[in-house]
This record gives sequence, C-alpha cells and structure tokens, in this order.
Amino acid sequence: MDHFEYRDGVLYGEEVPLLRVADEVGTPCYVYSKATLARHFRAYTEALGSHPHLICYAVKANSNLAVLGLLARLGAGFDIVSVGELERVLAAGGNPAKVVFSGVAKQQAEMVRALEVGIKCFNVESRPELERLNAVAGQLGKVAPVSLRVNPDVDAGTHPYISTGLKDNKFGIPVEEALAVYELAAGLPHLEVVGLDCHIGSQLTELAPFLDALDRLLVLLDKLKAQGIEVEHLDLGGGLGVPYRDERPPAPFDYAASLLERLAQWPGGEQLTLLFEPGRSIAANAGVLLTRVEFLKPGETKNFAIVDAGMNDLIRPALYQAWQAIIPVDARRPRDAATYDVVGPVCETGDFLGKDRELAIAEGDLLAVRSAGAYGFVMASNYNSRPRPAEVMVDGERLHVVRQREPLEALWAGESLLPDKPPAAN
Ligand code: LLP
Repeated sequence: MDHFEYRDGVLYGEEVPLLRVADEVGTPCYVYSKATLARHFRAYTEALGSHPHLICYAVKANSNLAVLGLLARLGAGFDIVSVGELERVLAAGGNPAKVVFSGVAKQQAEMVRALEVGIKCFNVESRPELERLNAVAGQLGKVAPVSLRVNPDVDAGTHPYISTGLKDNKFGIPVEEALAVYELAAGLPHLEVVGLDCHIGSQLTELAPFLDALDRLLVLLDKLKAQGIEVEHLDLGGGLGVPYRDERPPAPFDYAASLLERLAQWPGGEQLTLLFEPGRSIAANAGVLLTRVEFLKPGETKNFAIVDAGMNDLIRPALYQAWQAIIPVDARRPRDAATYDVVGPVCETGDFLGKDRELAIAEGDLLAVRSAGAYGFVMASNYNSRPRPAEVMVDGERLHVVRQREPLEALWAGESLLPDKPPAAN
C-alpha cells in the first residue's frame, strides 16, 4: 500500500496534489511519500517482532539524505557499498554501529574510514578482500567484524542483470569454498567472524529461492559450528520484489514468517540475529517521477508522447525493459484516448519510459511514472547535458524540496579549458 491516490480525479501524494508540486518545483521531479517509506520500513520490523533483528536499508536504492534521515530515526541500519554511501548515512544521522558494508571492490581508504567510524560488519566477498581487510585493520590497530557473503548458487528467477546468487555471477564466495575461507578468516589476527551473509538478487516475486538459500546457509552454519566457528547474525540480503504491474510478491510479513519458521527448526535459531538489506521494497512504491508532456507526435505506426523526463532521469525501462505504470496527474479533463510510446528528449531510440500505453492526454499534461522511488534518481545521469531532476518529499500537507534541481553550471563544475598556450618544453 502506498499514499499516492486519486481524489476527485487528481493524483495526490499524501495530502498534497501533485499539480501543486509541479507548479512549485517544476518537472521532471521525483516525489517521495514519507508515510509510505515509514510504513514499508515498519512492515519489516513488525514482521520480525521479538526475534532479534536489524533492518539495514540498502542505501543504493534511494540515497537522498531525507530518506536516510527518516529511516535512521525509525531505527534502521544501513547496507552500504561505498564510502560515499557511508558518508551520506553519517550526514543523515545514521548510526555507524548499524551499518553493514557490501560490495566486491572495497578500497583500502574505504576500509579505513569504515573502521574509524566503527561499522557493524564488513560483508566480505572474496579471499583477497579478506586479506586486504586484515592488513588494513592491523595497521589501524583494530579488529574488523566480518561476515562472508556466500553465493548459494540459487536461481532467483529475476532479470539476469539483477540476479546475483548464481555461480557465474561476480558476487560472493561459492558455497563449497566458504568453509575454507571462514577458517582462513578465523585464523587472521585482525578479523573477527561475526556473521554469514547472502544476497541472491533483486525483484524476487517468490519465496522459494529465499528459502533454498536459507537452507544452504544453515547447512554451512552447521559445518562452521563443527569447526568451532560461531556467528552472531545471519544476513539474508535484500531482494524482495514489489508490484510494478501485476506481480504478486510476498509481503514482508509472509516472507519473514516463513524464514522464522524454518529457522525455528534449526538448533539455536531463536538466538541468531537476522539482518535484512531491503531497498526496493521500502522505496520503490514510495515515489513517483512527475513529468510533463511536451508534444504529442502521431505517426503511421506509432504515436509518441514526448515528455520532459528521459532515460537519463529514469533508466530502468531502457536498461532492464522494466515496466512502470504511467498515469495522468489530472484525470478530470476530457481527452481522447490513444496508444502512445512515452519517450524522452534524449537522442537515443532506447530513450523511453513506457511503450504502448493507453493514455488520454494532451500537450502540457502532467504524468506520473509510478514505482520510481527506488533505483530512480540514484541512477540518473547528466547524459545530453541534462541537469538531474529535483526531489521532493511530501509529508501530510507539507512539501519539502529535499534536493534542488541541478543548476546548469553544476554540469561543468570541476571541468576546465585547456591552457591557451602549450606548456614550454624543457
Ligand atoms: N544488498 C545487496 C548486497 C545488494 O546488492 C542489493 C541490490 C540489495 C541489498 C538491495 O536489493 P533490493 O531489496 O533493492 O532488491 N538497479 C536495479 C536493481 C539493482 C539491485 C542491486 N543490488 C533495478 O533498478 O532494478
């Protein structure tokens, strides 16, 4: 459930008509709903109830400071993949002791910063990374808390670009090698094994792959126990899907309930802290992208609705052939319906937000692209020298601009012309 709905034919975000957002902030513009973000976060914490847990929101999904700050106040931890994300979490008031650090290529300087601020855990993805982390922690006179990201070789049944738990993906340590790598970790002086981690993919719409992964991890935990290696937490990553169109992904409650049931059968399961790293299921349906129709261009084989948002603002349709609902913001005005490809201003044939959409629209109308709160703004670029859109958070009747539209000068800030004369040869 989200807080974007029609009232008398006008689309609202909470108590704010989106027409007002467009008037005050312009388009294209991302609009997030605070109540929806909070609701989606609480769905996880309530589902886990009294079982020890920490919900580490995946910052990559939507890293706006206002989003992070809101989740931090609700008690969230954070899953980060770069020092940039770490600094964002700190700037938003997040607690570093609730941060887990994922990613296959953690650099030395990133490890140093994460150790300095005292993060909860490094999710280590390879043997060389383990050795690098041990060396960095040793130089700082610290002990790094680690969890190994194990690749359980489970088919998540999702788009190949966002499937991460198969043998031929770059992520994690193959489950067959994990025991040996854990033994290596346990023997390194500047590391402390605290957890076990996996993340098998994104936009999963079935429970089975999650449960298969859990089963494989529990087998591994038994083997670790037999070697005297005990962990405090089990991190099952993110990946729970959302309804974009007619998908029916499990609700966090059902997801958590089936995992807890499986865990209860495992000796010691009640004490094992569960970590989750949800991104999309918290943020996607808490946001829309507002865009205005510039021109309607009827054609022999296709009609185009050319809008002011393009693939540089929202790349999911172009990159993953993702389907996101596109709906009018003001459905009160009489319009003739037609089928359109909704395309952006970027000079690429792949620049579309949706294809073959039945819409009753005219030039100048506002459209909302739904489910755009996750992997929307964060994946925006300046391609075609287009400033990135503004971001707004609605909260009841209030509207906060949580990121200004990028000014044109920002496009070339940090660039420089070549000197007039070449430097003298020596
Ligand atoms: N943890 C790790 C280690 C991850 O790699 C990811 C996402 C998450 C958590 C969060 O997964 P979520 O709950 O959001 O599914 N840009 C793509 C999605 C890429 C996901 C990458 N990893 C898209 O727009 O569909």
